[in-house]
Amino acid sequence: MKLILLGPQGAGKGTQAQRLAEKTGAKHISTGDIVRAEIKADSELGRKVQEYNDRGDLVTDSVIVEMAKPHLSGADSWLLDGFPRNEAQAEALDEALTELGIEIDKAIALEAEDDELVHRLSGRRTSDATGKVYHAEHDPPPENDSDDPGPFVQRKDDTEEAIRNRLEIYHEQTEPLKDYYDERNLLVTVDAMQEIDTVTQDILDAVGESA
Ligand code: AP5
Repeated sequence: MKLILLGPQGAGKGTQAQRLAEKTGAKHISTGDIVRAEIKADSELGRKVQEYNDRGDLVTDSVIVEMAKPHLSGADSWLLDGFPRNEAQAEALDEALTELGIEIDKAIALEAEDDELVHRLSGRRTSDATGKVYHAEHDPPPENDSDDPGPFVQRKDDTEEAIRNRLEIYHEQTEPLKDYYDERNLLVTVDAMQEIDTVTQDILDAVGESA
């Protein structure tokens, strides 16, 4: 299974990828996580991409493509979360996959309204220990759980200004990718305004996997 997860910030790409990876064994490849890991390690690349990340801007295409490429080979199944985000990245991905002899099965577009997305992102908490994503109200972080002791922190780019910027970029650059994948008969749309478990089930139904 090779899946692309498309959708605006807060639609639940990371949340769903996490659950689908647990249920199917597919590898979760998140370009956002890769970017944050480089920033945390204070690497040369991390210092280069930090400003973009904190403002909510996209990292330049050539940098992100080089960061994503090594993760595409070596796993039978994967879920691509946060990549591609514009047509140039989609074309670069197609080229890399052709070289590797890999075909995409589906591009899942999670759809939700902007007001709900702002509410979700302002309540998001991420575990520093495991990287797992929670929501203060809808999916609260565990208390006294040795598998995930936290701390549960708010992301630097979850300020109102950065959220608005990210959503604007999404509508301008990423949303047109729905047509890109529809033209290739790969697009499936899923209503991401539903409860988290219902969204997971809809994706599994769309790709023909049982929960
Ligand atoms: P990235 O980490 O990908 O951030 P993002 O695109 O802003 O997406 P989010 O993580 O905010 O949204 P999500 O859909 O994963 O939501 P989540 O599941 O957490 O990228 C960060 C940065 O890295 C970018 O800004 C850029 O600088 C750089 N970058 C990454 N990829 C790049 C690329 N390809 N090109 C250039 N730059 C790139 O859910 C959000 C909250 O909602 C959570 O609290 C969750 O619990 C809750 N929630 C989820 N689903 C539901 C539901 N159904 N009901 C109620 N609550 C829900």
